[in-house]
Amino acid sequence: MTATLPHHCYHDSDIYAYEREQVFRRHWWLIGAESSFSDPGSYLALNLMRWPLVVVRDQQFRLRGFYNLCRHRAGPLVLDGAGRCREFVCRYHGWRYACSGELLRMPGFEEDGIDDPAQMGLLPVRVESWNGLVFVCLDQSAPDLVRWLGDIVSIAARFDTTASMLFDGDVTKRARANWKTYGDNSCEGYHVGMVHRALGSSMQRESVSIENYDNGEFVGFDVGYGAGQDRSRAGQGFWIYKFPGLLLHFADYAFNAETVLPLGADSIELHRWFWSNPQKAATHGVASASIRPNSEQVMDEDIAICELVQRNLASGVYPGGRLSPRQEPGTVYFQQLVRAALGARLQPEDSGAERRQ
Ligand code: FES
Ligand SMILES: [Fe+2]
Repeated sequence: MTATLPHHCYHDSDIYAYEREQVFRRHWWLIGAESSFSDPGSYLALNLMRWPLVVVRDQQFRLRGFYNLCRHRAGPLVLDGAGRCREFVCRYHGWRYACSGELLRMPGFEEDGIDDPAQMGLLPVRVESWNGLVFVCLDQSAPDLVRWLGDIVSIAARFDTTASMLFDGDVTKRARANWKTYGDNSCEGYHVGMVHRALGSSMQRESVSIENYDNGEFVGFDVGYGAGQDRSRAGQGFWIYKFPGLLLHFADYAFNAETVLPLGADSIELHRWFWSNPQKAATHGVASASIRPNSEQVMDEDIAICELVQRNLASGVYPGGRLSPRQEPGTVYFQQLVRAALGARLQPEDSGAERRQ
């Protein structure tokens, strides 16, 4: 048996502040579908863990990322959300920037000038895309996206790409839970029978194999589906939870990707994008219109249980529990990754040494 993480890791604002600087900024974060950047000037602005960002398709059709702040006095270039512009015009005093980040004009500064306008472009942020998904990373020294994904790339190659499927839209939900509460839950299938009755009835339990992948730091669930209440599942599926906050769900006829964006020590925003191939789904006896609602139902069930667990973790009375390496190997692995990432921020007694019950 393995000891769980101590409860304070799930609600302490000092731990969250440490994670923001030392963990979140070193990873790639899924922020959108590439298809929403279809034209030069299409942009998406967002507040990613209090880092104001904008990702834009520039005139050369390259995806570019910047902090959404003006070099004059930190005004916003655009408001959060999706839009389209020819150039960025700061909403405070009107400085203008190209979509490539270059400073173009400083209205009223003609007389004063500044010494180094070439040095006053927008502050860049890394952007890369893979399988129709757009990711950002704030750390210039982090590995590139494909290296960060590791073995996910070869697993994904067994399934159809998003380019060969129809985009079925996206959904955003919030949960009053720490990102690790949701991560712990997403890395195990032990709760499926209790929490996801319909999904559980459609899974062939004996066919499920769970593996931890060091190359990419993720947990993979190879799942076979059979007849059951959830009629949107058939054939073979592969679920992934990648540290710290990326979920990918592959099926023979559908795909969805979810990002887990921490908002604070006790809240997260979940954003999921859906694709499917209706013809292929029909050959499995699945109506593609049922895929997204059933998937959202599973999300809602996970959110509900995670919020209740979070409330109990934050009560301060949970003395710590045990994880089963047989039933919860993915959660054991996820918590190892959390411990490694938090390192010195954890007390020695929190280090999770193996204990006998
Ligand atoms: S802060 Fe942007 S123009 Fe002044
Ligand atoms: Fe679940």
